[in-house]
Amino acid sequence: MAEFSLPANSKVQQGKSWPAPAGAKRTKNFKIYRWDPDGSGNPTVDTYTLDLDQCAPMVLDALIKIKNEVDSTLTFRRSCREGVCGSCAMNIDGSNTLACTKAIDDVKGDVHIYPLPHMPVVKDLVPDLSQAYAQLRSVEPWLKSETPPPDRERLQSPEERAKLDGLWECILCFSCSTSCPSYWWNGDRYLGPAVLLQAYRWIADSRDEATGERLDNLEDPFRLYRCHTIMNCTKTCPKGLNPAKAIGEIKKLMVARK
Ligand code: SF4
Ligand code: FES
Repeated sequence: MAEFSLPANSKVQQGKSWPAPAGAKRTKNFKIYRWDPDGSGNPTVDTYTLDLDQCAPMVLDALIKIKNEVDSTLTFRRSCREGVCGSCAMNIDGSNTLACTKAIDDVKGDVHIYPLPHMPVVKDLVPDLSQAYAQLRSVEPWLKSETPPPDRERLQSPEERAKLDGLWECILCFSCSTSCPSYWWNGDRYLGPAVLLQAYRWIADSRDEATGERLDNLEDPFRLYRCHTIMNCTKTCPKGLNPAKAIGEIKKLMVARK
């Protein structure tokens, strides 16, 4: 019988522990994935115990407190702290989400924090998104039009504009793509829900004149059709968007133009 086991150097080991400060009454453990590309050791899970009475309410607040006051080597991305930049996406309590909008109190027990799954890790909680951004570039996410620009804005009717709702709000956090088993196994060729939602955002835009070209670019057994409607993307999106529906709309357009 075939034996499957991880290479020895990829097994996650128990790491260091930082105890709660003296006198803390309301404590919480944060168990955080650590990996240092400059070291030779295995990844570890380090445990930081914080006093919640001295910490602001979101998981990102806890990470910032740890970095500022406990362990400055902890590495993660963040920018806006209010759910609009997408840079703090990570796996918290088993789901991909934004650390800045995830309340610590919403996690029962210890808070387990890992980088977005199935991506190469740059360091600690920072995934390498190079491939995802290259895929985004490949769908040319900008307005393409042969019609010369008018003196003022390119106008849309309210109905045309409404078709972009549920699409423009995407902050490209890649929580959806990294929760998708099809993207885990075929991420080199399948574009994944985040990029396909972006592709549909331009297909659905009444001002864009490159719909045929955009559909040609997606007509491929892998780039589009590796979506098997598993729906993890829609379940996990921290902005409440529905990438699976956007992918379904692209598939419908593919059928309609045949
Ligand atoms: S669709 Fe949602 S989960 Fe996916 S990249 Fe956009 S905001 Fe993030
Ligand atoms: S820090 Fe910008 S989305 Fe969380």
